[in-house]
Amino acid sequence: MSIVWSDDLAGVDWDDLSALYRIAPLGTKTPADLALVFGNSMFRTFAYEQGRLVGAGRVLADGRDCAYLCDVAVHPDHQGRGLGRDMIERLLARCRGHRKIILYAVPGKEGFYERLGFRRMTTAMAIFEDQAGAYGRGYLTAP
Ligand SMILES: CC(C)(COP(=O)(O)OP(=O)(O)OC[C@H]1O[C@@H](n2cnc3c(N)ncnc32)[C@H](O)[C@@H]1OP(=O)(O)O)[C@@H](O)C(=O)NCCC(=O)NCCS
Repeated sequence: MSIVWSDDLAGVDWDDLSALYRIAPLGTKTPADLALVFGNSMFRTFAYEQGRLVGAGRVLADGRDCAYLCDVAVHPDHQGRGLGRDMIERLLARCRGHRKIILYAVPGKEGFYERLGFRRMTTAMAIFEDQAGAYGRGYLTAP
């Protein structure tokens, strides 16, 4: 597996990125929304193998205090080969100097992040646009 890393937005095919999230799977994200949210993210990384997009992730950050890691996905053909770990390590290197790096995992993926040094927060809370769906998918616990 010969991976080429890039953080260049100009080279991204947003339809390909949308397809990557669909198949990973990490949900339905429209090409237009992805162009917006990646464009507004301080850090991002894209993994290509022979020109094909096989991994992506991004970080919303303020440059000093908080960084929020999200939209991490590896193509199923490439999962389980260390690509996700390499991607997180690259993003963490970009976040160096921030006082906290925060994420919430898809249920079942917590161990992946624990291996990379993340620890569970006791007081993390969120308001989701689709609050009922977030309960259903296991992101929220009842008060
Ligand atoms: C989660 C995901 C990014 C991991 O990427 P990956 O390339 O398959 O993972 P890696 O091969 O780099 O795994 C790194 C380590 O984490 C472990 N790991 C991977 N998935 C795990 C899981 N669900 N639970 C516990 N450990 C896990 C691996 O066994 C490996 O352990 P090792 O260091 O002892 O060898 C990938 O499976 C994926 O894209 N899944 C679908 C989308 C998704 O759920 N994204 C996460 C959003 S929070």
